[in-house]
Amino acid sequence: MEIPQGLKERYQRLLGQEMGPFLEALLRPLKPSIRINTLKGNLWDIQNRLEEKGLKLSPIPWCSWGFWVENLEEESTLGNSLEHFLGEIYIQEASSMIPVEVADITPDMRVLDMAAAPGSKTTHAAQKMENRGVIVANDVSIHRIKALTHNLDRIGVINTLVTTMDGRRFGRLLSNYFHLSLVDAPCSAEGTVRKSFRAWNNWHPKVHKKLAETQKSLLISAFKATIPGGTIVYSTCTFAPEENEGVISYLLDHYPCHLEAIHLHGLDTHSGLPFWETERYNPQVKKAVRIYPHKNEVGGFFVAKIKKEEESWAGSKTDP
Ligand SMILES: C[S@@+](CC[C@H](N)C(=O)[O-])C[C@H]1O[C@@H](n2cnc3c(N)ncnc32)[C@H](O)[C@@H]1O
Repeated sequence: MEIPQGLKERYQRLLGQEMGPFLEALLRPLKPSIRINTLKGNLWDIQNRLEEKGLKLSPIPWCSWGFWVENLEEESTLGNSLEHFLGEIYIQEASSMIPVEVADITPDMRVLDMAAAPGSKTTHAAQKMENRGVIVANDVSIHRIKALTHNLDRIGVINTLVTTMDGRRFGRLLSNYFHLSLVDAPCSAEGTVRKSFRAWNNWHPKVHKKLAETQKSLLISAFKATIPGGTIVYSTCTFAPEENEGVISYLLDHYPCHLEAIHLHGLDTHSGLPFWETERYNPQVKKAVRIYPHKNEVGGFFVAKIKKEEESWAGSKTDP
């Protein structure tokens, strides 16, 4: 598969000297990875059973339940296993485990997962919360909601309400309500090409700006739905600055909030970009992290941890 020329040029500007290793890594297939589900059993028991079956597991440093499967090329082998059927494992890309790992989740929280389907982050959050507190898992797509509810059932999640609506409505419906909001935003998915080349097939230079508008609205809605002093974790699986730093910078410039630094054991990150093309972003975006596939043998990701100021209201700095 050939990378679209326009995208290649963007990556050259984005990565400079690291372009070679970056492109090589993008073309290498991804190692399958799993999260062992402690809602259904003991970590060591499940891990031992999988190893007795011949799977070679190596720990993902930033998630104590996460493992790469070193001796499987096909993810489908895992998907057809008894452990998967019983909900003892969740097949999840290693970088997709980052947003919940950085979120400081505790069992007593009210959590919003605004774009939740098919449920990687929701099931991960429920596991962290030991099925206590409450999660509202929302997605606008009825089709994808089916996969979400199936996964919640399979994983044994009982602290989660599922809603199907446009995430942009939460800010008004439930303002200042959630301790934590996750916005795992719809994006151009450039970081997923190690699994499928669909993102390259669908790429067009105009796509980033259009997506950024939706992402900004979703993030503002999540900001409004979060209590003062609460946390919003924004993530995408794309490299496009318009959909990442551009969106975060807009929130920082217009709403009372700040970014917190992100450090996870064993994760090699690049700082968020303070500028891109003609854009100059809010300098705080440097605290967000870019995860590149040539650094961690993962898919691409972007994560920002946002704190809503204690002394804040649901509106923007410019609201009357
Ligand atoms: C990156 S995926 C989410 C993946 C999910 N968080 C997980 O970890 O399994 C983005 C999701 O956003 C949903 N979405 C798109 N526009 C939305 C909107 N306006 N409101 C809520 N969800 C939306 C899509 O249907 C899609 O399921």
